[in-house]
Amino acid sequence: MSTATTTGSIPGYAFGDPSLPRAPLSDEDFQKLKATVLFTEDDERYLRMAGDVLEDQIDDVLDLWYNFVGSHPHLVYYFTDPQGEPIGDYLQRVRARFGQWILDTCRRPYDRAWLDYQYEIGLRHHRTKKNQTDGIRSVDHIPLRYLIAFIYPITATIRSFLEKKGHSAEDVEGMHQAWFKSVTLQTVLWSIPYARSGDW
Ligand code: HEM
Repeated sequence: MSTATTTGSIPGYAFGDPSLPRAPLSDEDFQKLKATVLFTEDDERYLRMAGDVLEDQIDDVLDLWYNFVGSHPHLVYYFTDPQGEPIGDYLQRVRARFGQWILDTCRRPYDRAWLDYQYEIGLRHHRTKKNQTDGIRSVDHIPLRYLIAFIYPITATIRSFLEKKGHSAEDVEGMHQAWFKSVTLQTVLWSIPYARSGDW
């Protein structure tokens, strides 16, 4: 089993960058959050398994997700310029980081560096930092309601990819549940900048 995470030189990918802001939650808060989505060591094991299943299917997963976004004008809108045209460069750069995110979700330990990058990803969807990483002019903010709603398609569509490598029904289900928990957990972390101080 490979545990490598392909970081290479993906433009704008800043996992582990010491200059990132610290995620404003304690280890204890994070443990409670994990317990709330029933995330256990079994899920960690299943995510590692999912990483091995998905690593050579990343482009196919991204094609599907990008088709989904591209076929909904109200979603592709968040990648458009002031004239309403999708910014190809922006879509491509985010796509590379999105691919890395799939592997990070499966293979990274969910430690402080990971928490800090979750906080960063939340800021990048929020008006605090959207567009800055790629230096483009686009819509300045993605509403929280779409972040939350996205949990469903990002989870439902991964299943057929998890089924492709001949794993038992039990393993596929385990990988899928672990993925669902992780995406939920991450979306909760990304919601930090959207909540009023003290409300999160
Ligand atoms: C569960 C929900 C979502 C997931 C898992 C997800 C995943 C990601 C990832 C991994 C990145 C790149 C992070 C990085 O810079 O390293 C990203 C950025 C981005 N996502 Fe999402 N996303 C979600 C919801 C949405 C929604 C609903 C939209 C609206 C169409 C959206 C639009 C964008 C845009 C425009 C960026 C680039 C932000 C920037 O300017 O830096 N995302 N997303």
